[in-house]
Amino acid sequence: MTQRYTTNNVGIPVASDNDSLTLGPNGPILLQDHYLIEKNAQFNRERVPERVVHAKGGGAFGTFEVTEDVSGFTKAAVFQPGTRTETLLRFSTVAGELGSPDTWRDPRGFALKFYTTQGNYDLVGNNTPVFFIRDPIKFPDFIRSQKRRADNHLRDHDMQWDFWTLRPETAHQVTWLMGDRGIPSSWRHMNGYGSHTYLWQNAGGEKFWVKYHFKTDQGIDFLTQADADRLAGEDGDHHIRDLYNSIKKGDHPSWTLYVQVMPHDDAADYRFNPFDLTKVWPHGDYPLIKVGTLRLDRNPDNYFAQIEQSAFEPANLVPGIGPSPDKMLLGRLFAYPDAHRYRIGPNYAQLPVNAPKSPVNSYAKDGAMRYSNPADPVYAPNSYGGPHADAELAGETASAYGATGEVLRTAYALHSEDDDFGQPGTLVRSVLNDDQRTRLVGNVAGHLSNGVSKPVLERALEYWRNVDKDLGDRIADKVNPS
Ligand code: NDP
Ligand code: HEM
Repeated sequence: MTQRYTTNNVGIPVASDNDSLTLGPNGPILLQDHYLIEKNAQFNRERVPERVVHAKGGGAFGTFEVTEDVSGFTKAAVFQPGTRTETLLRFSTVAGELGSPDTWRDPRGFALKFYTTQGNYDLVGNNTPVFFIRDPIKFPDFIRSQKRRADNHLRDHDMQWDFWTLRPETAHQVTWLMGDRGIPSSWRHMNGYGSHTYLWQNAGGEKFWVKYHFKTDQGIDFLTQADADRLAGEDGDHHIRDLYNSIKKGDHPSWTLYVQVMPHDDAADYRFNPFDLTKVWPHGDYPLIKVGTLRLDRNPDNYFAQIEQSAFEPANLVPGIGPSPDKMLLGRLFAYPDAHRYRIGPNYAQLPVNAPKSPVNSYAKDGAMRYSNPADPVYAPNSYGGPHADAELAGETASAYGATGEVLRTAYALHSEDDDFGQPGTLVRSVLNDDQRTRLVGNVAGHLSNGVSKPVLERALEYWRNVDKDLGDRIADKVNPS
């Protein structure tokens, strides 16, 4: 290998990696040591703000291959039979900061970018099929209750249970979170879900509501609270390390994608509101339909450039796929690009990890750190051969669905079986086995025994009795009020 010499940022050779330029050996440092100043000034600017949520994470590149034929449900190029698409998948915890342990109990992010021939398609999901709340107006309050207090900057179980019990719609997600799947043994050993309901449209114009399930091919595995607590001290980066080392040694993790498909007109009188993010569609009602395989096989070469600066946005929907009336999803369409403009800068989409592999013919121009601009003409419409928009190509008709009514603020229209406790009750009684239920009781009781005030504790016990009377009584017997 030829010896490389150090240069400054514009390629000029520098004189020393060791000594600053001084007036005599003990003299003052000179302002003309431009390299010294450049090096330190650059260092002072190394960080971008961490993500306001999902700050701690890791990821890898891979391929999604369609092994089945779901073209009857969507015309999206990425889901046509045999299609292989390059992908980036970033995993994360939600509430922890950049340096926080990977093994804290929390949902895990499962953010997927497909570099499709029709532009980037982002499916920004979690390892859970549901979420804590059903209206985006509550999101900042929810997140603040999970992060840190204003006075002592500590996380606080009282604040968490105060919020959860005042918002009983959280019960399904909290039941899931306090169970085994609340701490996966690794990112490879958990499922990913699109969680929201999306709209698909096929080439014939037919529309369907769809939910995505990525089932791990490695099998589900979890950590007990005690193991997770131990690992938080021994190796705070346990999950990043596991993924990186697995891929490095050629053990490439994979997930099988299934979808649940609801014919468009079923939504109106389905027993649950199909757009409510605190609910699943029971598999008995809408079975899983196999689509293909996602496999991760390439680690990032540079964590900052490819993972920290990656920018996912639920608004990146390609022709054949549209949003549903899920209020949370609609709130998220705004939130992510807004966050990216602040966190990375207005031209974040030009960074290699975020840029599509398909042509960009946008009229966006200029701004901080822009390095490639459109040629003239710089406005539309024009008479000089510039790009022109095409509603058919954009698939806008695919995302059309009927909506009427008055402008108002209200909860979702209730469907026959909508309530906050029914589905978590089913999870506890019909899905968990005795051992899993016992661990759930232990996890909740342990959490509630740590700094939760009496009135909040009483509300929490009521909350759990509403999920399942027997479970709530068992938690009450075990909890040690602090
Ligand atoms: P099914 O018996 O058909 O499915 C049960 C689901 O629960 C499977 O997806 C299974 O995932 C998942 N599961 C298994 N063990 C656990 C656990 N310890 N913690 C969380 N999830 C677990 O039942 P239904 O579809 O009728 O749903 C019953 C309940 O199961 C729901 O109320 C919901 O709480 C939960 N659930 C449902 C999902 C859905 O999309 N229908 C998805 C996940 C949970 P796997 O097959 O990967 O083991
Ligand atoms: C990250 C907002 C709900 C999954 C983020 C970020 C914001 C945000 C601002 C940081 C983005 C960045 O800086 O790059 C919101 C709002 C929500 C919401 C306002 C509700 C209204 C959800 C839900 C899910 C989810 C329901 C999963 C189903 C994620 C994931 C990330 C993330 C996985 C990390 C993406 C990455 O790896 O870069 N969210 N979020 N969020 N969110 Fe949400």
